[in-house]
Amino acid sequence: MSQNQNPNQETLSNLLQENRRFPPPADLAESANVKADAYEEAANDRLGFWAKQADRLTWSKRWDEVLDWSNPPFAKWFEGGELNVAYNCVDRHVEAGRGAKVAFHWEGEPGDGRTLTYADLQREVNKAANALLELGVRKGDRVAIYLPMIPELPISMLACARIGATHSVVFGGFSADALRTRIDDAQARLVITADGGYRRGKPSALKPTVDEAVERTPSIEHVLVVRRTGAEVAENPRDVWWNDLVERQSDQHTAEPMEAEHPLYILYTSGTTGNPKGILHTSGGYLTQVAYTHHAVFDLKPETDVYWCSADIGWVTGHSYIVYGPLANGATSVLYEGTPDTPHKGRWWEVIQKYGVTIFYTAPTAIRTCMKWGDDIPARFDLSSLRVLGSVGEPINPEAYVWYRENIGAGKTPVVDTWWQTETGAIMISPLPGVTAGKPGAAMRPLPGIVADVVDDQANSVPNGGGGFLVLKEPWPSMLRTIWGDDERYVKTYWSRFDGLYFAGDGAKKDEDGDLWLLGRVDDVMLVSGHNISTTEVESALVSHPKVAESAVVGATDPVTGQAIVAFVIPRGNAGEDVEGEEFAKELRDHVAKSLGPIAKPRQIMIVPELPKTRSGKIMRRLLRDVAENRGIGDVTTLADSTVMDLIAEKLPSAK
Ligand code: WT7
Repeated sequence: MSQNQNPNQETLSNLLQENRRFPPPADLAESANVKADAYEEAANDRLGFWAKQADRLTWSKRWDEVLDWSNPPFAKWFEGGELNVAYNCVDRHVEAGRGAKVAFHWEGEPGDGRTLTYADLQREVNKAANALLELGVRKGDRVAIYLPMIPELPISMLACARIGATHSVVFGGFSADALRTRIDDAQARLVITADGGYRRGKPSALKPTVDEAVERTPSIEHVLVVRRTGAEVAENPRDVWWNDLVERQSDQHTAEPMEAEHPLYILYTSGTTGNPKGILHTSGGYLTQVAYTHHAVFDLKPETDVYWCSADIGWVTGHSYIVYGPLANGATSVLYEGTPDTPHKGRWWEVIQKYGVTIFYTAPTAIRTCMKWGDDIPARFDLSSLRVLGSVGEPINPEAYVWYRENIGAGKTPVVDTWWQTETGAIMISPLPGVTAGKPGAAMRPLPGIVADVVDDQANSVPNGGGGFLVLKEPWPSMLRTIWGDDERYVKTYWSRFDGLYFAGDGAKKDEDGDLWLLGRVDDVMLVSGHNISTTEVESALVSHPKVAESAVVGATDPVTGQAIVAFVIPRGNAGEDVEGEEFAKELRDHVAKSLGPIAKPRQIMIVPELPKTRSGKIMRRLLRDVAENRGIGDVTTLADSTVMDLIAEKLPSAK
């Protein structure tokens, strides 16, 4: 549906009958980094609150003004201030006597590993920074990074930050075309890559993709190549080996202060339409908010916690919550190269047991996959070190939340469902683990210092119990500053739907307590017989059936109802044999009707082995709509696994 329709206004009155509440454990509440008073403090003086958070960082020059909003929507945070992001993430911890503390426990997929202390990291980043300088990279230049999840990835990002080069990390699963478009858009001078990385038990090449991409990228002068797999690669005149160039550099380098608004990185997001958008993040405000939110939302105690975010650094989650937030806070983190099921489906839980991980941050799609694999797998590992669990990327279905808490968190850890976007840079809406009595499926409240609301199509705030569009009402320190090279598109995409408000593109609902429930992209809301029904709610109803692990719901054109609900369902591993036939489909339809009301009953249910997902794990409902409407399947180039649509096609009943 278009953005002009108002989602969920006439939504079903009996949705969200979720009454389970999980208050924080007493000891966590007692010693929490952030307590309930933070909300009031920030509400009374928002800019003062952010200035206080900026003091977590070390500034070479203090700012003159916390926020310059004289030319909205172009924000300048900590105007006049200067700092170096890499210095804040690395050197200052070494200078404070914490050089021997582990920054990363790196775990390669084949089982190899490397431990990097903050002192090690400092030497490595300095060498890489000197290498970039030798290659002619200077402050303000752009560097593309196309690496697997190996230590050289954060090292390269920090080396760029150290010399003021703006990095553009491109996820290693992207094609040569995608890499080329991003290199061209940013006019990058250098690509940092590797021969390959390990995925699903075997080396997966990267260098050939780069070679193909840079054949037609005039801005690229050099390709800096890390040796990871030892695979043979074609050598071109512009190639430089990391092992030669970086290894012979001095490990001394003095970080230069950058202006607070100096561009730190560009990260491309592919929306549903148009070219990917180069989201621009800058230095001082970004680092302030990622550091604060990592401290607040995960209750990070740098001395004792072992933190692990399972995302890929190629996504914003990895930028903010593997690299910049944790390092700014002096955390000890796990960095894992591979997939969760290599060499076995318990690999993640084995990693948690091995390093004694205390805080774990992952995505609902991964949680539902683990549900599908079965409870017995995590049960084989000692996960008792865990104390906070996080979720990000999509609405988490209540059943997935409860499964996560019970099976991974031993029924005692808070689950923080964190809503944010590439564009927001940092977590915006989330429970606080020591404060919030969590509701499964709800992101709850905007964090201290953030002003969010749910509005109708006239921008009126909806009352409790109502639904509409999620908006952000005040600028925030880690907000995107623009779309690289396209200020007009920035204004049009985010600031034009509602005057003076940031439009996130998500539907949301306020419950009777005023807590927020995210309902997915507004484009995914279905209009069935005049009722707005969110795909998320029907999916959650399906996942609440004991035999369902995962589901995706789409609205298909229907002559009678306008749109009709079509559901794709993956059964749980232990669901038994009787999950194929019409009887099971009927059982599920009745289950949805019972939990949400008859209007939400799917017209059709298809049992499938897999769902089509993007490489970042989001369900591609567009392709499922093609299936549901009996069309040829559209562009599948952004699918993580291109064989999935064939698997689904095989399962389709020919007579519908
Ligand atoms: C979109 C942003 C933020 C890092 C990963 C995704 C959806 C994200 C949640 C959540 C409901 C969520 C939204 C948002 N989303 N987190 N906790 N609950 N929805 O970054 O690729 O920029 O995607 O992801 O639809 O707009 P992204």
